[in-house]
Amino acid sequence: MKFFIDTANLEQIKEAQALGILDGVTTNPSLMAKEGITGEANIINHYKAICKLVDGDVSAEVIATDFDGMVKQGEELAALNPQIVVKLPLIKDGIKACKYFSDKGIKTNMTLVFSVGQALLAAKAGATYVSPFIGRLDDISTDGLNLIAEIRQVYNNYGYQTEILAASVRHTMHIIDCAKLGADVMTGPLKAIEGLLNHPLTDIGLAKFLADFKKGN
Ligand code: E4P
Repeated sequence: MKFFIDTANLEQIKEAQALGILDGVTTNPSLMAKEGITGEANIINHYKAICKLVDGDVSAEVIATDFDGMVKQGEELAALNPQIVVKLPLIKDGIKACKYFSDKGIKTNMTLVFSVGQALLAAKAGATYVSPFIGRLDDISTDGLNLIAEIRQVYNNYGYQTEILAASVRHTMHIIDCAKLGADVMTGPLKAIEGLLNHPLTDIGLAKFLADFKKGN
């Protein structure tokens, strides 16, 4: 499973990259705003800075909601760096734009996906990634993980190559469950990724090894 970090915070991206397990970055306008990155020029510069920090795919989201606007913004974003993946909302014009970009060999990430039907359309339009938002479904008492399982089944039925990118991951168990269900990628906060490290028996065992080593020295 690929690991993406879901942030626009450069320090956290650096920290995840230093772990040696990072495959890419996802951002969105809210994550940019959270870091105080506003205005087109600053956002563009921030994407460039993120691309310098990591080797893998960096999702950059369009703001336009009409086909022509999405194509214009997506082409500008894609021209910044070959690592850029054009992130498009799963609406009618988003699907049209996805098909346009996939025909041109430009990578896409269909975002704000909350149903199997939407994921089916994303695959048909040739999306590189489809992003079901599992945490936001959980927030409204709907099983987000079940959506991952259903999309996996449908994609397997037809051999669709679109990668399932589990998004809106909120905690460590989400990552483990997504891995069990066969998500191709997960994107989550650094804290959820680092949670995978934790086990009390590791800490107890290490403390004992170090104590026993000291006895013999
Ligand atoms: C990913 O691409 C999304 O931007 C992100 O995972 C949304 O997460 P949230 O529901 O925690 O805002």
